[in-house]
Amino acid sequence: SKKVRIHHFKEMKQRGEKITMLTAYDYPTAKAFDAAGVDMLLVGDSLGDNMLGYDSTVPLTLDEMIPFARAVSRAAERAFVVADLPFGTYEISPEQAVESSIRMMKLSGAQAIKFEGGRRIARQVKAVTDAGIPFCGHLGFTPQSENALGGRRIQGRGEQGLQDLVADALALQEAGAFAVVLEMVVAPAAAAVTKALDIPTIGIGAGPATDGQVLVWLDMAGVGEWHPRFSRQFGAVGAEMTGAAAGYVQAVKDVEFPAAEHTFDS
Ligand code: KIV
Ligand code: NA
Repeated sequence: SKKVRIHHFKEMKQRGEKITMLTAYDYPTAKAFDAAGVDMLLVGDSLGDNMLGYDSTVPLTLDEMIPFARAVSRAAERAFVVADLPFGTYEISPEQAVESSIRMMKLSGAQAIKFEGGRRIARQVKAVTDAGIPFCGHLGFTPQSENALGGRRIQGRGEQGLQDLVADALALQEAGAFAVVLEMVVAPAAAAVTKALDIPTIGIGAGPATDGQVLVWLDMAGVGEWHPRFSRQFGAVGAEMTGAAAGYVQAVKDVEFPAAEHTFDS
């Protein structure tokens, strides 16, 4: 099927077709999700905590992300690949953001860049999009600022919360963003942002009104211990993997594997 391109997202918003996004960090997983028809694959900096065992996304570096982002880009035949910039690689200046984005684009093969924040990083977003790089925003709960936000807290509450979120989203659109992720935002605020923007919103814990949805794949597929309220387990991949490995261990211990059909006799 045809490659998903940047202009398709606005068209999908206009005709009311929901956009699907999942994180992916490696070749086989990205292949599976691409074949399933996922529109966008996100090489999120959730790589740090989900795949590398860090406490948060903060320690992850750009260089660490590159091999993972490359693997996902190689696997994606149809899906549009977005790569996160990790903490510390864009905040300082528009120049730093452009340099990091160019490095990620060149070395990863991704089609777009995402990083966190609204009005406070609007100059960076403008510089990145002026350099010809598609940019996806990320508002609401922004994990890289977890320490400043006082933990994993729901965003967009109250009239002020809603107005701040809309102002940040409009600033990103104005700066050239093609989409905005809304993370852990109360549903009325997510709906207001979705209505205020021409570009699509992609929600995670932001209710049903957003133009698309994104989940961290391990949460969605039932890998690991963490089951956030806003996710659903569409599979039990963790239990399936443990079962496969346990079956293998048992068969080898019992000298039942390898059998004749797995063996080269001469
Ligand atoms: O890194 C990530 O997985 C993300 C999603 C939660 C949107 O940014
Ligand atoms: Na992220």
